[in-house]
Amino acid sequence: MDRKEPSGKERGKDSLKAEGVIRKAEPSDFEDVMNIENACFPGELAYSRQQMRYLLFKANGVTLVEVRDGRAAGYITAVFRRGSEIAGIETIGVDPRCRGSGIGARLLRAAEEWMKPWGIKSFRLEVSIGNEQAISMYEKAGYRITETIDNYYIYEHHGTRSVYRMEKDL
Ligand SMILES: CC(C)(COP(=O)(O)OP(=O)(O)OC[C@H]1O[C@@H](n2cnc3c(N)ncnc32)[C@H](O)[C@@H]1OP(=O)(O)O)[C@@H](O)C(=O)NCCC(=O)NCCS
Repeated sequence: MDRKEPSGKERGKDSLKAEGVIRKAEPSDFEDVMNIENACFPGELAYSRQQMRYLLFKANGVTLVEVRDGRAAGYITAVFRRGSEIAGIETIGVDPRCRGSGIGARLLRAAEEWMKPWGIKSFRLEVSIGNEQAISMYEKAGYRITETIDNYYIYEHHGTRSVYRMEKDL
């Protein structure tokens, strides 16, 4: 799939450092989000377009994007069941060219804030035990490992099918 990527020169080093605007995902963000999803999760690991469309626009929850230079540079989807006090992070991804500049951490915080008025009191997620960057991000944001689940994924992710379940009380 074409990613319509601007060159490093067009984007510029300074703009990579600049903080973007976080807002709810709109239909016009779909291609950017799909491109990031495919860059983050190779092959079968990525959500399909149909699954992603459901998550973005139909699921009970929210998808937030951080927009830089007029395009989504990262996204997070958090979902919850009506009446539940626990929300789950379904997926989070940052454009590989924009990583390490705080987008992931900001999106995580924004999703937590978005959920509070809905009565959500804690967040839960599953992360591959080999995904050191994401685990570090979650730990810095206050998430703690509560469980290790073997054979969670159908396909290997970071060389393993096992995940940590992590949780945070808001
Ligand atoms: C995980 C991910 C979302 C982090 O996004 P990011 O915008 O690069 O992260 P941030 O810049 O906000 O960094 C937040 C924290 O993540 C951790 N982190 C980020 N990049 C890291 C790296 N290269 N090595 C180690 N830790 C790293 C650090 O703890 C960092 O905190 P610090 O800046 O105080 O050191 C991004 O790497 C990504 O999209 N990965 C692929 C998709 C994925 O694995 N999603 C998680 C599925 S559960």
